Amino acid sequence: MKIKDVMVVGAGQMGAGIAQVHAQAGFAVVLHDMDNASLSRGMEGIRRNISRQVEKGRLTAEEMEAILARITPSTDLKQAAGADIIIEAIVENMASKTALFVELDRLAPPHAILASNTSSLPITEIAAATKRPEKVVGMHFMNPVPVMKLVEIIRGLATADDVYEAVAALAGRLQKTAVEVNDFPGFVSNRVLMPMINEAIYTVYEGVASPEAVDEVMKLGMNHPMGPLTLADFIGLDTCLFIMETLHEGFGDDKYRPCPLLRKYVKAGWLGKKAGRGFYIYES
Ligand code: CAA
Repeated sequence: MKIKDVMVVGAGQMGAGIAQVHAQAGFAVVLHDMDNASLSRGMEGIRRNISRQVEKGRLTAEEMEAILARITPSTDLKQAAGADIIIEAIVENMASKTALFVELDRLAPPHAILASNTSSLPITEIAAATKRPEKVVGMHFMNPVPVMKLVEIIRGLATADDVYEAVAALAGRLQKTAVEVNDFPGFVSNRVLMPMINEAIYTVYEGVASPEAVDEVMKLGMNHPMGPLTLADFIGLDTCLFIMETLHEGFGDDKYRPCPLLRKYVKAGWLGKKAGRGFYIYES
C-alpha cells in the first residue's frame, strides 16, 4: 500500500504539526479546517516553526518555501478524493469524530486509510461508523509533533495488517518510531502518563508540596524534561481531565478518578499555557 498524497483534517496545534512533518518528508499535503482563519493560524504556526530551522542554519530559505508549497490549505472536505491517507486531528469529541469519519468514508477513494490522532477515544468505535473499519487506525503523534520521535499506532479490532504496516512505514518516512498498541482506553501513552500527572496534582491538592517542588523532584530526580505540572499546563488541563475521565469511564476503576483540583482549575478556565494560567502563570 503506497502512500503518496496526504490529507490532514484539523489545523490546530497537532494537525499543523502533522502537516508540517509530512511536508518536510516530501509528501504533498492538503491541510483542512472549517474556516480560513483557523487555516491561516495553522499555516502561520508552521511557517514560524520552519523559520526557526532556517535561523539555525539547518534549512535554506528556498527549502522552507518548497516545504510550505507542498501544503495546500483548504476548507473543502471533497479534497479527500485525492488522498491515500487522511489523518484526523479535530476536537476530542466522539460525535464530531464519527460524523467526520462518515463523511470521509463517503468522499475518500476505496483504497484510502482513515487515521485518527485521538489521544484516548476508542479507534474501534470510530471505525464502526465507517464501511471500511479494516482501513481505520489510530496514529497518535505527541506534542510538539516536529520534535517528539514517537507515533503510537493503535490497532482497532478490525484494523488490517497491511494498514498497520503501511502506517508504520509512513511513520518511518517521517523519521519517527512507530510503536504498536491495541485499542484500550488511553492506549499506552496516556494510560501511563495521565495517572502520573493526576497523582502529581493530588500531591499539590493534599498540600504535600508546591507545584514547583513536585516538578523539581520529577525533573532532577527522574530526568523528565518537564515536571508533570508544567507538562499538564503544556498539554492543556481540559485535555488532561478529558483523558482521565475516558480512563475512569472506560475501565470503571476508581484508581483513575480525576483529582478534584484538576476539575476546579478547568471549571475556573485555568486551562494551562494556552489560557495564560494553569498551575503556573504565563505572560503572553
Ligand atoms: N514546536 C516545534 N519545535 C519545538 C517546540 C514546538 N512547540 N518547542 C520546542 N521545540 C524545539 C526547539 O526548537 C528545539 O529544537 P533544536 O534542539 O532542534 O534546536 C528543541 O525543541 C528543544 O527546545 P528548547 O531548547 O526550547 O526547550 P527544551 O529543551 O525544554 O525542549 C521540549 C522543549 C521538547 C518540549 C521538552 O521540554 C520536552 O520534551 N517536554 C516533554 C514533552 C512531552 O512530554 N510531550 C508529550 C506530551 S503528551 C502528548 O502529546 C500525548 C497526548 O495525547 C496528551
